[in-house]
Amino acid sequence: MTPRLPRRRAACLLATALPSLAACNGPQSTFNSAGAEAGSVLTLFWVMLAGAALIWLIVVGISVYVTKVRPGAHSDRTGVHLIVWGGCVFPVVVLGVLLYVGLTMMPGLRGAADGAKIAVSGERFWWRVNYGVEGTPGVAKSLPGGGVESANELYLPVGKRTEILLGSPDVIHSFWVPAIAGKTDAIPGRVNRLVLAPTRLGVFNGVCAEFCGDAHAQMGFRVVVVSEADYAARIAAEAEPAAVIDHPGRALFMGNGCNACHAVRGTEAAGRVGPDLTHLGSRKTLGAGLLPVTAENISRFIRETDHTKPGVEMPAFHTLSEADAAAIAAWLGALT
Ligand code: CUA
Repeated sequence: MTPRLPRRRAACLLATALPSLAACNGPQSTFNSAGAEAGSVLTLFWVMLAGAALIWLIVVGISVYVTKVRPGAHSDRTGVHLIVWGGCVFPVVVLGVLLYVGLTMMPGLRGAADGAKIAVSGERFWWRVNYGVEGTPGVAKSLPGGGVESANELYLPVGKRTEILLGSPDVIHSFWVPAIAGKTDAIPGRVNRLVLAPTRLGVFNGVCAEFCGDAHAQMGFRVVVVSEADYAARIAAEAEPAAVIDHPGRALFMGNGCNACHAVRGTEAAGRVGPDLTHLGSRKTLGAGLLPVTAENISRFIRETDHTKPGVEMPAFHTLSEADAAAIAAWLGALT
């Protein structure tokens, strides 16, 4: 084998690895840490990686020593020492230290919240968000009143510890914003608590991390971290009814029964089965993190729901004419 081949292989490996490394820095990456808990987890990861690299070097060193440097037979005493120290004592010490480091991190991460309380319910296949609730989201369709309802987007104030109350009406989901904190399950019949403590501003991606059905992989959301003042302004804006404009799409929305499942506060639409659409036009995504909110995408989502997001609960309105769907989409898109 010429010495060129391994060099070429190394270059190929590097070329493959570099884009993967670049992908580590996106809005959905644990390496792009933007939260107290994610930061601790990342530190633990680097400690474990450094430890694993060191142990790997030691093991490879011993292998090279016994095969290349001193390939002959070794005494029984050396063998026993290797097993006792390398096989028993060393792993116990390493795992003990790791356990200690992990346990000492936990009290800080599980500390009390000092910010708002937000109920988040995992639905099939989207996220119901309710700001400012005092109760629990045990059964999503009976979320306590008083909060401000939204969907698939979560605003958080930077530097505050916000408590998320997680529930689900039917199947288990897992709420995960990799850049901010570890994942926590949303389980029917109980309320799990998670504290999110974002450390810097930005928009981060969240996902459902537990297989929950056909559209599991399309059950995303956005977390928007803003200043405390912007957070208060945002919640005040969310609490307002829709800026309803006079548009033929409104009558079509009601006439085709969309209001049976969706609420648009400020109109007669008060359905609670699907996402609240009061401020759909101001959201970053449509279909739970799936598409940008544009009139074209809304129209397509209404008529081809089964193609755009297979497995979703909403029926596809194939029977709706393109013009009618476009009118509804234009109205919904204008709800900021
Ligand atoms: Cu919800 Cu997976």
